[in-house]
Amino acid sequence: MHLDLRRLEISSRLDRSQRSSLGQFLTPTSVADFMAGLFPQPVGAVHLLDAGAGIGSLTAAFVARWVRSAAIETTAYEIDPVMRAGLADTLAACGGASRVVETDFIEDAVNALQFGTGAHYTHAILNPPYKKINSASRHRLLLRQAGIETVNLYSAFVALALALLAPGGQLVAIIPRSFCNGPYYRPFREFLLARARIRHIHLFASRDQAFRDDAVLQENVILRLERDGAAGPVTVSTSTDDRFADYVEHAHDFERIVFPGDPEAFIHIPSGAAMADPDLPASCCATLASLGVAVSTGPVVDFRAKPDLRDAPEPGCVPLLYPAHFSGAEVAWPKLDGRKPNALRLTDETRKAVFPAGWYVAVRRFSSKEEKRRVVAAVVPESLAVDGLVSFENHLNVFHAARRGLSADLARGLAAYLNSACVDRYFRLFSGHTQVNATDLRRLRYPSREALVELGQWVAAQPDRSADALERRIEALV
Ligand SMILES: C[S@@+](CC[C@H](N)C(=O)[O-])C[C@H]1O[C@@H](n2cnc3c(N)ncnc32)[C@H](O)[C@@H]1O
Repeated sequence: MHLDLRRLEISSRLDRSQRSSLGQFLTPTSVADFMAGLFPQPVGAVHLLDAGAGIGSLTAAFVARWVRSAAIETTAYEIDPVMRAGLADTLAACGGASRVVETDFIEDAVNALQFGTGAHYTHAILNPPYKKINSASRHRLLLRQAGIETVNLYSAFVALALALLAPGGQLVAIIPRSFCNGPYYRPFREFLLARARIRHIHLFASRDQAFRDDAVLQENVILRLERDGAAGPVTVSTSTDDRFADYVEHAHDFERIVFPGDPEAFIHIPSGAAMADPDLPASCCATLASLGVAVSTGPVVDFRAKPDLRDAPEPGCVPLLYPAHFSGAEVAWPKLDGRKPNALRLTDETRKAVFPAGWYVAVRRFSSKEEKRRVVAAVVPESLAVDGLVSFENHLNVFHAARRGLSADLARGLAAYLNSACVDRYFRLFSGHTQVNATDLRRLRYPSREALVELGQWVAAQPDRSADALERRIEALV
């Protein structure tokens, strides 16, 4: 019987609750074929691992693709007897040496890693089960023995398969995208990045397309990892669905995927418009979070705080900053001849919105189309605070470090970078509107902290610099 028909037939017979507890969503043939084709041509004998093999669709695709290139021996783990009946038929049809293991893959793999044969597979192909692992469960304790801290069966399967691969071994897996960020998957990301190179990431553009027949609603990616390989570029591809009709791929430096020095080790998957970031220099790849900096919208909404606004500073008030206070690349306060208030009366309510004295960077949220630059930033000096406090109106974004000030050099460097021509070009590319929101500034990439501090020191030492000299300095630094 054709494998897709058998897949649909077996899927319809599976018990619903067991289906979700064992994560039984079988791979359609088109996706299995695509996954098999991602492996480089094997050299020498292949020992393939298919963990959580279901009815063997992935092994069948692998064998069909590579049987003429190599002798293939397969080890397939499957815990469910209903699946195993189909699996035995598939493996028999594939020919070659094969072994079906009925035990729990996690248990067997942890045993093998601790006491047994260790890393010996040359290839692994996986569509692992997806299910949360409870913190006190047997699986969690077993995994801990193998040095794997993870929260889902899918990441556990990938980590174990990776650990069981021989050096140079290749792994292709289809898994949810959730491991790419978030704190729970950080130990898994670290485990993976310490042992393997990411060679290819395929993203299905539409959330429900990889497992259409099963109506699985989650973003799935296909990963190809190489155990211990040398550093190199990462191919990122996308397609809307499992027909791959609109397949496109681009090569990216690894540093665009995992930003150097990012303590969270997030895995970024550039796609669509973000694939073309031509105008930011390659070294500007730090996230704001990795710099220890945050950006927020100014919390004082002036029409709501009307009774507490004051035109001039007076006792019991703190500076309130508007875009009108921008004077070149610094903020000058107070501005008594302007139309905007200058101060905010401290009350129990307004106190929640003020910041402690410190160096900050403010960015205008709105600019007109005619304005020369889209992003307009100014440094807020520490000396501007009154009674150790300062506040920002809602027409500004403010860069801070956990609601405290930055170092003077970092603030100056950050403002200079934000005002640079390269940031302006980049912003125009990805944002059609003239508004600059905090989310846009979070999405932006930044030079390293060291480069920003050095730029800030240079800016402080060159009060009479020309705009051109500043641009040249930025280009040299980044
Ligand atoms: C998402 S399905 C994928 C099946 C197959 N790889 C495919 O692509 O069609 C995961 C399979 O893993 C099996 N499974 C779940 N937990 C397992 C475990 N601890 N050990 C071995 N197999 C397991 C399930 O029964 C299910 O058949």
